[in-house]
Amino acid sequence: MTQRVLTGITTTGILHLGNYVGALRPAIAASREAGVESFFFMADYHALIKCDEPERIERSRLQIAATWLAAGLDTERVVFYRQSDIPEIPELTWLLTCVTSKGQMNRAHAYKGAVDANLAAGEDADAGITMGLYSYPILMAADILMFNAHRVPVGKDQVQHIEMCRDVAQRFNHLFGRGSGFFVLPEAQVDAEMELLPGLDGRKMSKSYDNVIPLFEGGARALKDAIARIVTDSRLPGEPKETEGSHLVSIYDAFATPAQREAFRAELRAGLAWGEAKQRLFELIDAEIGPMRERYDSLMANPERIEEILQQGATKARAIAAPLLAQLREAVGLRRFQPLKAAVQEAKLKAALPVFKQYREADGKFYFKLNSAEGQVLLQSQGLEQGREAGQWVVRLKREPAALAEAPVQLGEGVSAAAVAEALSALAAAELAAEAAKQKA
Ligand code: TRP
Repeated sequence: MTQRVLTGITTTGILHLGNYVGALRPAIAASREAGVESFFFMADYHALIKCDEPERIERSRLQIAATWLAAGLDTERVVFYRQSDIPEIPELTWLLTCVTSKGQMNRAHAYKGAVDANLAAGEDADAGITMGLYSYPILMAADILMFNAHRVPVGKDQVQHIEMCRDVAQRFNHLFGRGSGFFVLPEAQVDAEMELLPGLDGRKMSKSYDNVIPLFEGGARALKDAIARIVTDSRLPGEPKETEGSHLVSIYDAFATPAQREAFRAELRAGLAWGEAKQRLFELIDAEIGPMRERYDSLMANPERIEEILQQGATKARAIAAPLLAQLREAVGLRRFQPLKAAVQEAKLKAALPVFKQYREADGKFYFKLNSAEGQVLLQSQGLEQGREAGQWVVRLKREPAALAEAPVQLGEGVSAAAVAEALSALAAAELAAEAAKQKA
């Protein structure tokens, strides 16, 4: 089966050499593999969450699109588009928003980080926090589920978002998918490489550390200047250099063949001057990205060419998104008017939920178990000293299927972990629906 790989880049700035080595280059290489269908996009709706300068948004999405293309993306093979050209994405975002628990969004790192910073500054917890930031993970879930991606290459900081995406997908599948489900549950793919490239000072290359090497902007000159600022030790020309732990060497490695890596180390150990080493590094990097820079400059001078490519990408993407969204609208009840069906089936579905039971045994301990609707034991707890403890576990497991990992339970005989996960997420969905109904009443 073909594997769908999808990733987006938020368009608030320009990409640096670390983004190229960590994200673009591996993504483009993977997109050439057989059996892989890649979706790459400019996350420009996400950009609006972080940036309220229209000119910066405009510039960044053009620059990032040009960067992907200049780096060798084959738009015949991949689906390459702007998020904001796909109106099905915000529509799906709303459908997902309606089945996302607010409590879970409260726990998103980006939101919690902003709250903590506010509290530390003595401000109101939600000062300056928009609903955009709060709902960021739901929009991201829609990006991924819209195309039923299997794998999502991201940095470590995004892994929680993929987990949230899986939860939302599961809940939607359960509520509206009638067992089969609309959505694939995606996996985060965190490559060691994504974090690899050190910046000028040896810390991870990042704009927030002000230690980046530019990719195309500023031309060869800017590349050379940045390389000149890479921090090294103070060993003089002729003195043997320590190559282990040198980030200049690590940056070199990211562009070199194994033979070149060996040779470079040998020369450094033999006393190659750092200045000379930087010249070698510049030449090595420029040999790879120099030709790309020329394509980049030519694309930036002809934005209408990029526009056309992206329009074609949007057409391809919407050919997938629109039919799925039509199914989803149908599933949630946004249908063409027709004579109404009796409500019997709904009642049946509700009755088929698994149930938790709590009880006390002759040993005086408190127990709970989870039975399937048909009475099979799915989970069995250990004996607990306090009845309250058993009750708390039941409440927690009903709301938070992931709590299973910590719960004092074992699987019923012959029961798979997947079956239990499915039962718990059915309960979580029912719980959420019940709470929602209560609030409406
Ligand atoms: N949030 C991601 C980031 O900041 C960008 C992004 C948006 C994304 N939507 C996505 C990444 C979907 C992967 C899949 O890095």
